[in-house]
Amino acid sequence: MTQSREVLAMMDAHTTTFGRKRGCTISRCGAFLLGTLFLLSLVITALLVYHFAPCADGALGRQHDASDSGLFAGRGFLGANSVSTKLDVRLPRSVVPVFYRLELTPFIWEGNFTFNGEVKIVVNVTEDTRNITLHAVDMKIDEAATTVQMHPPDNNGTIRNRMEDVGIDKQTNDTLRQFHVIHTAGMLKAGKQYTVYIKYVGYLNDYLQGFYRSSYTVGNQTRWIATTQFQPTDARRAFPCFDEPALKAEFEIHIARPKNMTSISNMNGTVDTTPIVGLPSYEWDRYERSVPMSTYLVAFVVSDFATQRSDDGKVGVWVRSEALDQADYSLKIAPQILKYFENYFAIDFPLPKMDMVALPDFSAGAMENWGLITYRETAMLYQEGVSTNSNKQRVATVVAHELAHQWFGNLVTPSWWTDLWLNEGFASYVEYIGMNAVEPSWKVLEQFVVHELQNVFALDALASSHPISVEVGHPDEISEIFDRISYGKGASIIRMMDHFITTNVFKRGLSNYLRERAYQSAEQNDLWDALTKQAHKDGVLDKSITINEIMDTWTLQTGFPVVTVNRDYNRGSATLTQERFLLQTSTTEVSDDKPLWWIPITYTSQNVLNFNETIPSRWMQAEPTITLSNLNTAANEWVIFNVQETGYYRVNYDEQNWRLIIQELNKASFKSISTINRAQLLDDALNLARAGRLDYATALDVTSYLAHETEYLPWKAAFTAMGYLDRMLVKTEGYDRFRIFALKLLDNIYKQTGFKDIHGDPQLTVFTRIDVLSWACSLGHKDCVQNAVTQFHNWQITPNPDNNNPISPNLKSVVYCTAIRVGGQAEWDFAWERYQKTNVGSEKDLLLHALGCTRETWILSRYLNWAVTENSGIRKQDAGRVFGSVANNVIGQPLAFNYLRNQWKRIKTYFGTSLLTINNIIKSTTKKMNTAYELKALYEFETEHSAELAIARRAVQQTIEQTEANIKWLDRNHETILNWLKRATA
Ligand code: BES
Ligand code: ZN
Repeated sequence: MTQSREVLAMMDAHTTTFGRKRGCTISRCGAFLLGTLFLLSLVITALLVYHFAPCADGALGRQHDASDSGLFAGRGFLGANSVSTKLDVRLPRSVVPVFYRLELTPFIWEGNFTFNGEVKIVVNVTEDTRNITLHAVDMKIDEAATTVQMHPPDNNGTIRNRMEDVGIDKQTNDTLRQFHVIHTAGMLKAGKQYTVYIKYVGYLNDYLQGFYRSSYTVGNQTRWIATTQFQPTDARRAFPCFDEPALKAEFEIHIARPKNMTSISNMNGTVDTTPIVGLPSYEWDRYERSVPMSTYLVAFVVSDFATQRSDDGKVGVWVRSEALDQADYSLKIAPQILKYFENYFAIDFPLPKMDMVALPDFSAGAMENWGLITYRETAMLYQEGVSTNSNKQRVATVVAHELAHQWFGNLVTPSWWTDLWLNEGFASYVEYIGMNAVEPSWKVLEQFVVHELQNVFALDALASSHPISVEVGHPDEISEIFDRISYGKGASIIRMMDHFITTNVFKRGLSNYLRERAYQSAEQNDLWDALTKQAHKDGVLDKSITINEIMDTWTLQTGFPVVTVNRDYNRGSATLTQERFLLQTSTTEVSDDKPLWWIPITYTSQNVLNFNETIPSRWMQAEPTITLSNLNTAANEWVIFNVQETGYYRVNYDEQNWRLIIQELNKASFKSISTINRAQLLDDALNLARAGRLDYATALDVTSYLAHETEYLPWKAAFTAMGYLDRMLVKTEGYDRFRIFALKLLDNIYKQTGFKDIHGDPQLTVFTRIDVLSWACSLGHKDCVQNAVTQFHNWQITPNPDNNNPISPNLKSVVYCTAIRVGGQAEWDFAWERYQKTNVGSEKDLLLHALGCTRETWILSRYLNWAVTENSGIRKQDAGRVFGSVANNVIGQPLAFNYLRNQWKRIKTYFGTSLLTINNIIKSTTKKMNTAYELKALYEFETEHSAELAIARRAVQQTIEQTEANIKWLDRNHETILNWLKRATA
């Protein structure tokens, strides 16, 4: 198990002495004994916690989600089994840090992978105490070296200017809470300042958390990198610290690195060439003292990377030298977006520089460390002519997102992780605004609706969703909330607010909030207060209403509403009712709990046709129903609510209004309904039908007009919603009808987009083409499949296939997947070889996905096996994607699930306790399940592993719930849908 290896390796660090008393050096053998004891105690604690943790599943029923980005890949190591919701894991506030001086010496070569650390922390004591409690995990503290000294009184040189030692009674570890406690002999006095000194040895791990190692090869040579990922709670693995976001301090970082490497950190650095005793090949880099900041934003990287800077020198990129040119795009847009945000927030970027590093191994997509953003390669690198438009947009998205955090998150930081959603939701919203500023032709503000809002609706409609604002304590619970609810829903409700209080008010309020709270922490109410103040001042919000009151209904309650519009066609009025939208109204639900929201109501109609006005004309003030006495619309004219889908809610209509809308969609003038609202109609109709709130015939009638739709958004909405039908029907006898129907719908758009990547086509045309082609090819469209196969074979016979890929970038996903699907081992082997050889991360991602498309079962099994094998060529950061892609394949899905079931122990060990990766694997491998037999297999899986399921239990239960729902859905709708499809394809 990784755990023992890592702890033992730490024990082996001969550069440090371990002992209780100063100066006492313990032999290596003794150290080993101590280490074994330490290890044993860890194992025992882990076991105890594992079995006795009260409510190991926690009280939070919530949904995680697999993301292509890798946002939720490979995390977790020690103690991650130990979810204890009752344990108070917060640090006491009697001692707070003001300044850290940190010295680190990483040993980055095979056989060592440790680092020496020394930290001096200046702390203020706010209450008399005899304890200094701080965080430390997975490190060996040289306790004999620890000191605590009192500072001389300020402005009074007369007493003494030497610091006075406060004796240390003992030091203890609270493993569960990841505390290291220094018990002082004397009382630490309120109002006084002290310096705590700690010397320790840490471990450069390979599980992508804390201070970790990454590597890449050049020729046959392995190159090592030491880098950090601290958010949310892993700074404590790199240095003992007060690892909570509100405990900001200034940092002065010193890094000793091999002379032939470079280091970077949050601030600017200078090289100190004074020789280091005992380490002739090293020298120190000393970094300027930082502004006050949270521990989770500290970062440093030691590498042999190449670098390049923007013209003004302010922004720099760091990357493997072979891939330096791939950083051109991010280096071009980062300074532009940075400038844009300086204006948007009306606050200058406070640090002297901004560095961005592309790392070969990285668990998330990117991390916003202040002044030193770290990325996985695919989130920062883009190779013209090799990468796709979507890769390029991904880069712009992530760059804009992390830059937005420099203000929202870094300058002003959530007081506690409960408000994480605000941080991530906010960055996930303004990333679109920043990106729009540099790439206006991409229409990303429109894309937001399908990629974020509609996307998260699907999750938030589950009974097992959770409120975006949640109480969290233990690191496992904190990690859990980095999910699509925090990101997508957070972003969507902030966008709603931007629209209902108007952008000017929103920006002014925001800027005030950031300025008032700069270098400090804040809670969501602080933002609401600033926005309320501004909204009242500018007269856009009634004085009797606060933003707080409105937003609490969205942040504290689970789910979102569906507003049902019932028109009175004689009177010209309408009644609106709101209810929570649930995909399935569970039969066991007896709860009287009827949540209500503050809903901004906007609408337009056939005679008004104003799709620009997003300021609400009415509110549903957390009331179940309201009446609009005069819609100003004739009985034969349609109305559409939720203009531009700026509100976070679905809309249902009476049958007559749906008919009027369907009529309009089938007219040549259908574009008089805005693109976003056409996407909304499709998404709402199909999901209302899925939830049993609208009959499928009506919902499917809405889709018929797609035969002449050409825009991306409506198609995207339709593809997503039809994806569910596809998944449910693919193994049923009626699938043929669905196939014919879908191909018929696609006929026109297929002709229009064509099997050709046209240079200079607008972004959304390119995106539409790819979606159309991948649906067409996977439905067996002859021309599509033929084109794909031919193009792939042309590549196979290209003289120099690495540099001369004749397939144009955007078509690669379709071509690779289709050719591998209909091909055999030769195609697979060729793609695998290209996977290993390519120097471009995005190309690797494409191939990795395509390799899961084969129908050769034995190859799929081998592929799954490689995904969880060290040194197979697939990095740990990408393993979850392999399962996702195999499970996406109708033949691969049962294999992937069986592999998971049979190899459970091995998978669990491989990912450590990375619950997110494992949960994602569970979800992706079960997504298509809809039969009683599969449900039985799930139950068996649950019982087989009940003892050690722990962290994945909730995911399994959700999966069971989902499969039950799918079975019911099929029972209820199969016949109706089949009949409709028969009629439509007759
Ligand atoms: N702060 C996160 C990175 C992070 C994620 C740290 C999970 C710890 C756990 C960062 O700002 C982020 O959200 N990155 C996203 C990219 C973004 C464009 C949504 C990611 O990693 O995918
Ligand atoms: Zn973020």
